[in-house]
Amino acid sequence: MMNLIKRPRRNRAHGSMRSLLCENKVTVDDLILPLFLLGDESAKSEIKSMPGQFRFGRKELISELKESISLGIKMVCLFPILPEEKKDSMASIALKKEMFYYQRIKEIKDLFPELVIMTDVALDPYSSDGHDGIVDPKTKTILNDQTIEVLTKMSILQAQAGADYIGPSDMMDGRVGAIRKGLDSEGFTNTAIFSYAAKYASSFYGPFRDALDSAPKFGDKKTYQMNPANRREALLEAKLDEAEGADVLMVKPGLAYLDIISDLRRHSNLPIAAYNVSGEYAMVKAAGERGWCDETAVMNEMLVAFKRAGADLILSYFAKDFAAQRIK
Ligand code: PBG
Repeated sequence: MMNLIKRPRRNRAHGSMRSLLCENKVTVDDLILPLFLLGDESAKSEIKSMPGQFRFGRKELISELKESISLGIKMVCLFPILPEEKKDSMASIALKKEMFYYQRIKEIKDLFPELVIMTDVALDPYSSDGHDGIVDPKTKTILNDQTIEVLTKMSILQAQAGADYIGPSDMMDGRVGAIRKGLDSEGFTNTAIFSYAAKYASSFYGPFRDALDSAPKFGDKKTYQMNPANRREALLEAKLDEAEGADVLMVKPGLAYLDIISDLRRHSNLPIAAYNVSGEYAMVKAAGERGWCDETAVMNEMLVAFKRAGADLILSYFAKDFAAQRIK
Protein backbone atom coordinates (compact mmCIF):
# COMPACT_ATOMS: atom_id res chain seq x y z
CA MET A 1 0.00 0.00 0.00
CA MET A 2 1.32 3.43 -0.88
CA ASN A 3 1.51 5.93 1.93
CA LEU A 4 -0.60 8.70 0.33
CA ILE A 5 -2.06 11.50 2.48
CA LYS A 6 -3.97 13.02 -0.42
CA ARG A 7 -6.11 10.84 -2.61
CA PRO A 8 -8.26 13.16 -4.79
CA ARG A 9 -10.12 10.12 -6.10
CA ARG A 10 -11.92 9.86 -2.70
CA ASN A 11 -14.11 12.81 -3.79
CA ARG A 12 -15.01 11.09 -7.05
CA ALA A 13 -16.14 7.77 -5.62
CA HIS A 14 -19.76 7.86 -6.73
CA GLY A 15 -22.30 9.84 -8.67
CA SER A 16 -23.98 11.78 -5.85
CA MET A 17 -20.62 12.84 -4.49
CA ARG A 18 -19.47 14.00 -7.92
CA SER A 19 -22.69 15.90 -8.31
CA LEU A 20 -22.30 17.60 -4.90
CA LEU A 21 -18.75 18.61 -5.67
CA CYS A 22 -19.44 19.82 -9.19
CA GLU A 23 -17.88 23.28 -9.62
CA ASN A 24 -19.77 24.48 -12.68
CA LYS A 25 -23.20 23.76 -14.08
CA VAL A 26 -24.85 24.97 -17.24
CA THR A 27 -28.53 25.86 -17.07
CA VAL A 28 -30.93 27.10 -19.73
CA ASP A 29 -30.64 30.53 -18.09
CA ASP A 30 -27.05 30.72 -19.29
CA LEU A 31 -27.96 30.27 -22.94
CA ILE A 32 -28.82 32.61 -25.79
CA LEU A 33 -30.29 31.10 -28.96
CA PRO A 34 -29.17 32.65 -32.28
CA LEU A 35 -31.81 32.63 -35.03
CA PHE A 36 -31.67 33.46 -38.74
CA LEU A 37 -34.57 35.52 -40.12
CA LEU A 38 -35.95 35.71 -43.65
CA GLY A 39 -38.20 38.50 -44.93
CA ASP A 40 -40.73 35.95 -46.25
CA GLU A 41 -44.14 35.54 -44.66
CA SER A 42 -43.67 31.78 -44.66
CA ALA A 43 -40.43 29.86 -45.29
CA LYS A 44 -38.07 27.43 -43.61
CA SER A 45 -34.82 26.24 -45.11
CA GLU A 46 -32.14 24.23 -43.41
CA ILE A 47 -28.59 25.60 -43.44
CA LYS A 48 -26.50 22.91 -45.14
CA SER A 49 -23.38 23.37 -43.05
CA MET A 50 -25.41 23.67 -39.82
CA PRO A 51 -27.70 20.63 -39.62
CA GLY A 52 -30.68 21.36 -37.37
CA GLN A 53 -30.44 25.14 -37.90
CA PHE A 54 -32.86 26.95 -40.18
CA ARG A 55 -33.62 30.24 -41.86
CA PHE A 56 -37.10 31.20 -40.71
CA GLY A 57 -39.86 33.14 -42.42
CA ARG A 58 -42.28 35.09 -40.23
CA LYS A 59 -44.75 32.33 -39.36
CA GLU A 60 -42.10 29.68 -38.79
CA LEU A 61 -40.11 32.06 -36.60
CA ILE A 62 -43.08 32.59 -34.34
CA SER A 63 -43.62 28.85 -33.88
CA GLU A 64 -39.90 28.33 -33.32
CA LEU A 65 -39.98 31.01 -30.62
CA LYS A 66 -43.03 29.46 -28.95
CA GLU A 67 -41.28 26.10 -28.83
CA SER A 68 -38.00 27.57 -27.57
CA ILE A 69 -39.75 29.55 -24.84
CA SER A 70 -41.62 26.44 -23.73
CA LEU A 71 -38.23 24.75 -23.34
CA GLY A 72 -37.09 27.55 -21.04
CA ILE A 73 -35.10 29.72 -23.48
CA LYS A 74 -35.17 33.33 -22.27
CA MET A 75 -33.00 35.14 -24.77
CA VAL A 76 -32.50 35.09 -28.53
CA CYS A 77 -30.06 36.80 -30.87
CA LEU A 78 -31.59 37.68 -34.24
CA PHE A 79 -29.70 37.81 -37.55
CA PRO A 80 -31.41 39.10 -40.72
CA ILE A 81 -30.88 37.50 -44.13
CA LEU A 82 -31.32 39.73 -47.17
CA PRO A 83 -31.40 38.71 -50.83
CA GLU A 84 -28.39 39.85 -52.86
CA GLU A 85 -30.45 42.34 -54.90
CA LYS A 86 -31.34 44.32 -51.74
CA LYS A 87 -27.69 44.82 -50.82
CA ASP A 88 -25.56 47.79 -51.89
CA SER A 89 -22.17 49.24 -51.09
CA MET A 90 -23.59 51.63 -48.46
CA ALA A 91 -25.80 48.95 -46.84
CA SER A 92 -28.61 51.50 -47.35
CA ILE A 93 -31.44 49.12 -46.58
CA ALA A 94 -30.17 48.85 -43.00
CA LEU A 95 -31.45 52.38 -42.39
CA LYS A 96 -34.93 51.84 -43.84
CA LYS A 97 -37.40 51.77 -40.98
CA GLU A 98 -39.74 49.53 -42.95
CA MET A 99 -37.05 46.85 -43.43
CA PHE A 100 -38.42 43.48 -42.27
CA TYR A 101 -35.84 43.05 -39.47
CA TYR A 102 -37.22 46.04 -37.52
CA GLN A 103 -40.79 44.88 -38.04
CA ARG A 104 -39.93 41.40 -36.82
CA ILE A 105 -38.23 42.70 -33.68
CA LYS A 106 -41.31 44.77 -32.89
CA GLU A 107 -43.70 41.93 -33.52
CA ILE A 108 -41.69 39.47 -31.42
CA LYS A 109 -41.43 41.95 -28.56
CA ASP A 110 -45.20 42.49 -28.65
CA LEU A 111 -45.94 38.76 -28.79
CA PHE A 112 -43.34 37.66 -26.22
CA PRO A 113 -42.63 40.60 -23.90
CA GLU A 114 -40.64 38.44 -21.48
CA LEU A 115 -38.24 37.21 -24.15
CA VAL A 116 -34.94 39.10 -24.12
CA ILE A 117 -34.03 40.22 -27.64
CA MET A 118 -30.48 40.81 -28.78
CA THR A 119 -29.86 42.24 -32.24
CA ASP A 120 -26.88 42.33 -34.59
CA VAL A 121 -25.16 45.58 -35.53
CA ALA A 122 -22.78 45.30 -38.50
CA LEU A 123 -23.15 45.99 -42.19
CA ASP A 124 -22.35 42.55 -43.63
CA PRO A 125 -25.94 41.27 -44.00
CA TYR A 126 -26.77 44.41 -46.05
CA SER A 127 -23.50 45.15 -47.83
CA SER A 128 -22.85 44.12 -51.44
CA ASP A 129 -19.17 43.96 -50.45
CA GLY A 130 -19.85 41.47 -47.66
CA HIS A 131 -17.90 43.56 -45.17
CA ASP A 132 -18.93 44.75 -41.73
CA GLY A 133 -18.12 48.35 -42.63
CA ILE A 134 -18.31 50.72 -45.59
CA VAL A 135 -15.61 50.08 -48.17
CA ASP A 136 -13.71 53.00 -49.69
CA PRO A 137 -14.09 52.28 -53.43
CA LYS A 138 -10.63 53.69 -54.26
CA THR A 139 -8.47 52.15 -51.58
CA LYS A 140 -10.66 49.11 -50.81
CA THR A 141 -10.16 49.80 -47.11
CA ILE A 142 -12.90 49.79 -44.48
CA LEU A 143 -13.91 53.29 -43.37
CA ASN A 144 -14.17 53.31 -39.58
CA ASP A 145 -15.84 56.61 -38.70
CA GLN A 146 -18.28 56.68 -41.62
CA THR A 147 -19.34 53.12 -40.73
CA ILE A 148 -20.01 54.14 -37.14
CA GLU A 149 -22.52 56.77 -38.25
CA VAL A 150 -24.54 54.02 -39.94
CA LEU A 151 -24.14 51.59 -37.03
CA THR A 152 -25.40 54.22 -34.60
CA LYS A 153 -28.50 54.92 -36.70
CA MET A 154 -29.14 51.16 -37.03
CA SER A 155 -28.89 50.78 -33.26
CA ILE A 156 -31.48 53.50 -32.70
CA LEU A 157 -33.87 51.81 -35.18
CA GLN A 158 -33.38 48.50 -33.37
CA ALA A 159 -34.00 50.12 -30.01
CA GLN A 160 -37.15 51.79 -31.37
CA ALA A 161 -38.33 48.36 -32.54
CA GLY A 162 -37.92 47.01 -29.01
CA ALA A 163 -34.49 45.37 -28.78
CA ASP A 164 -33.23 44.81 -25.22
CA TYR A 165 -29.58 44.34 -26.17
CA ILE A 166 -27.85 45.96 -29.12
CA GLY A 167 -25.09 43.63 -30.33
CA PRO A 168 -22.31 45.38 -32.27
CA SER A 169 -20.40 42.57 -34.04
CA ASP A 170 -18.44 44.82 -36.40
CA MET A 171 -15.19 45.60 -34.51
CA MET A 172 -14.91 49.24 -35.63
CA ASP A 173 -13.03 51.46 -33.17
CA GLY A 174 -15.21 53.60 -30.93
CA ARG A 175 -18.55 52.10 -31.90
CA VAL A 176 -19.72 51.23 -28.39
CA GLY A 177 -19.29 54.83 -27.23
CA ALA A 178 -21.00 56.22 -30.32
CA ILE A 179 -23.92 53.78 -30.03
CA ARG A 180 -24.33 54.58 -26.31
CA LYS A 181 -24.40 58.30 -27.06
CA GLY A 182 -26.84 57.80 -29.92
CA LEU A 183 -29.20 55.64 -27.86
CA ASP A 184 -29.13 58.06 -24.94
CA SER A 185 -29.75 61.09 -27.14
CA GLU A 186 -32.93 59.41 -28.42
CA GLY A 187 -34.09 58.52 -24.91
CA PHE A 188 -33.12 54.84 -25.02
CA THR A 189 -31.13 54.97 -21.80
CA ASN A 190 -32.40 51.52 -20.81
CA THR A 191 -31.40 49.76 -24.02
CA ALA A 192 -28.23 47.83 -23.22
CA ILE A 193 -25.13 47.11 -25.31
CA PHE A 194 -23.91 43.54 -25.67
CA SER A 195 -20.50 44.15 -27.16
CA TYR A 196 -18.52 41.70 -29.26
CA ALA A 197 -15.47 42.99 -27.39
CA ALA A 198 -12.86 40.48 -28.52
CA LYS A 199 -13.87 39.20 -31.91
CA TYR A 200 -11.21 37.35 -33.86
CA ALA A 201 -10.71 37.02 -37.62
CA SER A 202 -11.68 33.37 -37.49
CA SER A 203 -12.26 30.56 -39.96
CA PHE A 204 -14.85 29.16 -37.55
CA TYR A 205 -17.43 31.58 -39.02
CA GLY A 206 -17.68 29.71 -42.35
CA PRO A 207 -21.12 28.11 -41.83
CA PHE A 208 -22.61 31.42 -40.59
CA ARG A 209 -21.50 33.14 -43.80
CA ASP A 210 -23.16 30.29 -45.75
CA ALA A 211 -26.37 30.90 -43.81
CA LEU A 212 -26.44 34.61 -44.69
CA ASP A 213 -24.58 34.33 -47.96
CA SER A 214 -22.45 37.13 -46.54
CA ALA A 215 -18.84 36.12 -47.18
CA PRO A 216 -16.62 39.12 -48.07
CA LYS A 217 -16.50 39.66 -51.84
CA PHE A 218 -12.82 40.58 -51.67
CA GLY A 219 -10.07 40.31 -49.09
CA ASP A 220 -10.75 39.27 -45.52
CA LYS A 221 -11.78 40.87 -42.22
CA LYS A 222 -8.29 41.07 -40.72
CA THR A 223 -8.10 44.87 -40.62
CA TYR A 224 -10.95 45.01 -38.13
CA GLN A 225 -11.27 41.57 -36.50
CA MET A 226 -8.41 40.50 -34.24
CA ASN A 227 -5.45 38.25 -34.95
CA PRO A 228 -6.08 34.78 -33.39
CA ALA A 229 -2.50 34.81 -32.12
CA ASN A 230 -3.13 37.78 -29.81
CA ARG A 231 -4.09 37.60 -26.16
CA ARG A 232 -3.17 40.97 -24.59
CA GLU A 233 -4.95 42.83 -27.36
CA ALA A 234 -8.25 41.31 -26.17
CA LEU A 235 -7.86 43.13 -22.86
CA LEU A 236 -7.23 46.39 -24.66
CA GLU A 237 -10.43 45.93 -26.69
CA ALA A 238 -12.44 44.86 -23.63
CA LYS A 239 -11.26 47.81 -21.53
CA LEU A 240 -12.18 50.27 -24.28
CA ASP A 241 -15.65 48.77 -24.67
CA GLU A 242 -16.20 48.81 -20.93
CA ALA A 243 -15.09 52.44 -20.69
CA GLU A 244 -17.34 53.35 -23.63
CA GLY A 245 -20.37 51.94 -21.81
CA ALA A 246 -20.76 48.26 -22.78
CA ASP A 247 -23.11 46.29 -20.50
CA VAL A 248 -21.83 42.82 -21.45
CA LEU A 249 -18.49 41.81 -23.00
CA MET A 250 -18.38 38.91 -25.44
CA VAL A 251 -15.52 36.75 -26.70
CA LYS A 252 -15.88 35.21 -30.15
CA PRO A 253 -15.25 32.44 -31.17
CA GLY A 254 -15.49 30.53 -27.91
CA LEU A 255 -13.98 27.09 -27.97
CA ALA A 256 -10.46 27.94 -29.12
CA TYR A 257 -10.48 31.15 -27.02
CA LEU A 258 -11.15 29.95 -23.47
CA ASP A 259 -8.00 31.73 -22.27
CA ILE A 260 -9.48 35.02 -23.48
CA ILE A 261 -12.76 34.38 -21.65
CA SER A 262 -10.77 33.66 -18.51
CA ASP A 263 -8.68 36.84 -18.92
CA LEU A 264 -11.76 39.02 -19.38
CA ARG A 265 -13.42 37.39 -16.38
CA ARG A 266 -10.45 38.32 -14.19
CA HIS A 267 -10.09 41.86 -15.49
CA SER A 268 -13.71 43.01 -15.58
CA ASN A 269 -16.73 42.95 -13.31
CA LEU A 270 -19.11 43.07 -16.26
CA PRO A 271 -20.97 39.93 -17.32
CA ILE A 272 -18.86 37.94 -19.80
CA ALA A 273 -20.34 36.02 -22.71
CA ALA A 274 -18.90 33.41 -25.06
CA TYR A 275 -20.04 32.91 -28.65
CA ASN A 276 -20.05 29.20 -29.43
CA VAL A 277 -19.89 29.95 -33.17
CA SER A 278 -21.21 28.21 -36.27
CA GLY A 279 -18.00 26.30 -37.08
CA GLU A 280 -17.86 24.88 -33.57
CA TYR A 281 -21.45 23.69 -33.95
CA ALA A 282 -20.79 22.27 -37.42
CA MET A 283 -17.74 20.26 -36.28
CA VAL A 284 -19.67 18.54 -33.49
CA LYS A 285 -22.68 17.87 -35.73
CA ALA A 286 -20.52 16.46 -38.52
CA ALA A 287 -18.56 14.15 -36.23
CA GLY A 288 -21.79 13.12 -34.48
CA GLU A 289 -23.50 12.27 -37.78
CA ARG A 290 -20.59 10.03 -38.73
CA GLY A 291 -20.70 8.31 -35.37
CA TRP A 292 -17.22 9.62 -34.60
CA CYS A 293 -18.26 11.19 -31.31
CA ASP A 294 -21.24 11.27 -28.97
CA GLU A 295 -22.76 14.57 -30.05
CA THR A 296 -24.79 15.21 -26.90
CA ALA A 297 -21.92 14.40 -24.57
CA VAL A 298 -19.53 16.60 -26.53
CA MET A 299 -22.10 19.44 -26.53
CA ASN A 300 -22.45 19.27 -22.74
CA GLU A 301 -18.70 19.14 -22.25
CA MET A 302 -18.22 22.14 -24.53
CA LEU A 303 -20.89 24.23 -22.83
CA VAL A 304 -19.58 23.57 -19.33
CA ALA A 305 -16.07 24.48 -20.50
CA PHE A 306 -17.33 28.01 -21.29
CA LYS A 307 -18.71 28.29 -17.77
CA ARG A 308 -15.51 26.93 -16.26
CA ALA A 309 -13.48 29.51 -18.19
CA GLY A 310 -15.65 32.24 -16.66
CA ALA A 311 -18.52 32.91 -19.05
CA ASP A 312 -21.85 33.95 -17.53
CA LEU A 313 -23.66 33.64 -20.84
CA ILE A 314 -23.22 31.39 -23.87
CA LEU A 315 -24.55 32.26 -27.29
CA SER A 316 -24.97 28.82 -28.85
CA TYR A 317 -26.77 27.05 -31.70
CA PHE A 318 -27.00 24.15 -29.23
CA ALA A 319 -29.27 26.15 -26.89
CA LYS A 320 -32.45 24.33 -27.93
CA ASP A 321 -30.84 20.86 -27.95
CA PHE A 322 -29.47 21.52 -24.48
CA ALA A 323 -32.82 22.75 -23.16
CA ALA A 324 -34.73 19.83 -24.70
CA GLN A 325 -32.37 17.31 -23.15
CA ARG A 326 -32.99 18.77 -19.65
CA ILE A 327 -36.74 18.56 -20.05
CA LYS A 328 -36.85 14.94 -21.29
C1 PBG B 1 -20.76 39.41 -38.79
C2 PBG B 1 -20.96 38.24 -37.91
C3 PBG B 1 -20.35 37.00 -38.09
C4 PBG B 1 -20.82 36.16 -37.09
C5 PBG B 1 -21.72 36.89 -36.32
N1 PBG B 1 -21.79 38.19 -36.84
C6 PBG B 1 -19.42 36.56 -39.16
C7 PBG B 1 -18.29 37.37 -39.51
O1 PBG B 1 -17.76 38.18 -38.73
O2 PBG B 1 -17.85 37.21 -40.65
C8 PBG B 1 -20.39 34.73 -36.95
C9 PBG B 1 -21.21 33.87 -36.06
C10 PBG B 1 -20.96 32.42 -36.21
O3 PBG B 1 -20.03 31.97 -36.91
O4 PBG B 1 -21.74 31.67 -35.62
N2 PBG B 1 -20.97 40.65 -38.30
